[in-house]
Amino acid sequence: MRRIALVNQKGGCGKTTVAINLASCLAEKGKKVLLIDLDPQGHSALGLGFKPDQSEKSIYEVLLGEILIEEAIQNVRDNLDILYSDVVLSAFEQVMAGIEEREFKLAQCIKPVQNNYNYMIIDSPPSVGLLTFNGLMASSEIIIPVDPSSFSLNGLDKLLETIKIIEEKVKHRLSIKIIPNNIDLRTKFCRKMVEKLKEDFPMYCFNNFVNSCTALREAASLGKPIIDYDRQCNAFRDFQNLTREIIRTAGATVEETSENVSFFETEDLPYSSSKGVVFSLEAPADATVEIAGDFNNWIPESLSRKKLRGKSVWHKAISLKPGAYEYKYVINGNWISDPTNDNMVDDHQGGKNSLIQI
Ligand SMILES: Nc1ncnc2c1ncn2[C@@H]1O[C@H](COP(=O)(O)OP(=O)(O)OP(=O)(O)O)[C@@H](O)[C@H]1O
Ligand SMILES: [Mg+2]
Repeated sequence: MRRIALVNQKGGCGKTTVAINLASCLAEKGKKVLLIDLDPQGHSALGLGFKPDQSEKSIYEVLLGEILIEEAIQNVRDNLDILYSDVVLSAFEQVMAGIEEREFKLAQCIKPVQNNYNYMIIDSPPSVGLLTFNGLMASSEIIIPVDPSSFSLNGLDKLLETIKIIEEKVKHRLSIKIIPNNIDLRTKFCRKMVEKLKEDFPMYCFNNFVNSCTALREAASLGKPIIDYDRQCNAFRDFQNLTREIIRTAGATVEETSENVSFFETEDLPYSSSKGVVFSLEAPADATVEIAGDFNNWIPESLSRKKLRGKSVWHKAISLKPGAYEYKYVINGNWISDPTNDNMVDDHQGGKNSLIQI
């Protein structure tokens, strides 16, 4: 089971929005998902339209050891279960004061069900207190949503510092990823922020970001994930891309790698690196592999070959400014769309171009 916590001490940056939409998209793709709400505000259940009645038990009783985790898990849709939270969870920090190993309560609680799920997604409160620590200790991956504000960028450095301290003190390795959220590329501020994140944290940034999208707000207020509300909007496409990007790193959890997840190792969609956007494709060692697209006036450029886990992978880093780009690979003279990228548009010649959004 992959255990992913949405964390950021800054309020309103999109932790819950990413948690419920990522969990729903994963579930729709056939993955078994457990969504755990560690925020006493209880927004995850609200955002999914789940209204617990009084007889139902929350994460609070589970963390206190009053009931078994199985007794509190509720099903919200196909493949998606939730451990909801409510305001009583605010008492957790006080109730646990002085109790040994209180940071590891969630990690212990989830053990009996970890084989029942492919993904556990944890929504955290906007603070780095005991509840968030429990989320971090139960996870091996962190996603940090960052919204466009100077407070967010400032808080990000502090959060990364805190995570490093935890890693060193408790020897608990965490793979970190940043997802810019609520992005409107028409504004200079957003464009600069996305560029700065990619520049300052190239290892951490997802290939994707989530656009600012009114439909997301409307969907949340109606208690629906975006997949049930509007499948034409930007946010629907963004969450599909993000979900694919996360699924494609399957298996590369920190337990199995000595470094943070490298997207190249997963032979993924084009991904960002310090040298630019890296396009990579598996193809025979004796092939001629080139790439052509909007970024090079459709004049094919050669890719380099690298052996990766016994496979022959071709790659090229191209420096690209934020925007949308169409491209194709040219293998032994044959023009093909990128088989790892489902995002395609008509090439007006009876075929399809692959599309990448930077
Ligand atoms: N990409 C987006 N486009 C438009 N609205 C968004 C987007 N992401 C989040 N929102 C809206 O911003 C508000 C805050 O989002 P959300 O509740 O997910 O943040 P949060 O980090 O979980 O907040 P908290 O720290 O209070 O838990 C919500 O009203 C949500 O619908
Ligand atoms: Mg929230």
